[in-house]
Amino acid sequence: MIYLGSKARIVGEILPIMLQSIHPGQAFVDAFCGGCNVVQHVPQEYKRIANDNNRYLIAMWKTITTTNWNPSTAISKAYYNNVRESWHKNDGKYSDAEIGWVGFMGSRNGRFFDGGFSGSTGGRDYINESVRNINKQIGQLQGVEWQTGSYDQIVIPPGSLIYCDPPYKGTTSYSTARNFDYDHFYDWARQLKRDGHIVYVSEYNMPGDFSCVWEKSIANSVNPTKTYTAVEKLWMV
Ligand SMILES: C[S@@+](CC[C@H](N)C(=O)[O-])C[C@H]1O[C@@H](n2cnc3c(N)ncnc32)[C@H](O)[C@@H]1O
Repeated sequence: MIYLGSKARIVGEILPIMLQSIHPGQAFVDAFCGGCNVVQHVPQEYKRIANDNNRYLIAMWKTITTTNWNPSTAISKAYYNNVRESWHKNDGKYSDAEIGWVGFMGSRNGRFFDGGFSGSTGGRDYINESVRNINKQIGQLQGVEWQTGSYDQIVIPPGSLIYCDPPYKGTTSYSTARNFDYDHFYDWARQLKRDGHIVYVSEYNMPGDFSCVWEKSIANSVNPTKTYTAVEKLWMV
């Protein structure tokens, strides 16, 4: 799914490294699953758990992967505005799954209403691109156990691998991630390790007791004429 902070471009490199640490039957827990661009590639022989604290996102994923739900693929600006207003007011007019669907399929860069209505411009139909993208994931996400809440509330089976892709420190891009407490997150990861789990983290920088096991410079385009390079890293506790 087109998603802010998607790991679609690096999953082919980081996932084989992580999967060396567990065997089929053990659980792969994607603690900040977002667009599910990582967990979708974990083979189904592993128990797969996906969590995110955006309840509309998880309602959308759960409904679209476990029922015959056929959400509208024609998202007009008026429909988008109605759903956004209802989400703001929390008036219960639309289901959480529908709010997630309209918010993620209809917003620029998969930014859940923060991005504003995408629609179609310059010969591109952005909503259609988003819908085609998510439709390709549905088959690969069969059997995933969905959880929603903060990462530190996830129910984790013994001896799991936990992949953490939190909002990058210094960014405030997710409506659900204002005031993210990084020290609490580091302590939670350390405790998981003491409890016998394996913990990987995608971040630019981490405290000294985490070791970087992979890194690569990736060019990101801000717009057609402006790109910046960031060093993506995978860490292990
Ligand atoms: C970088 S994105 C994950 C992208 C995902 N790995 C992908 O490739 O599509 C980070 C996610 O963390 C979620 N998030 C933020 N704070 C959280 C928290 N306290 N607990 C769980 N999820 C959280 C956001 O809603 C967002 O979906």
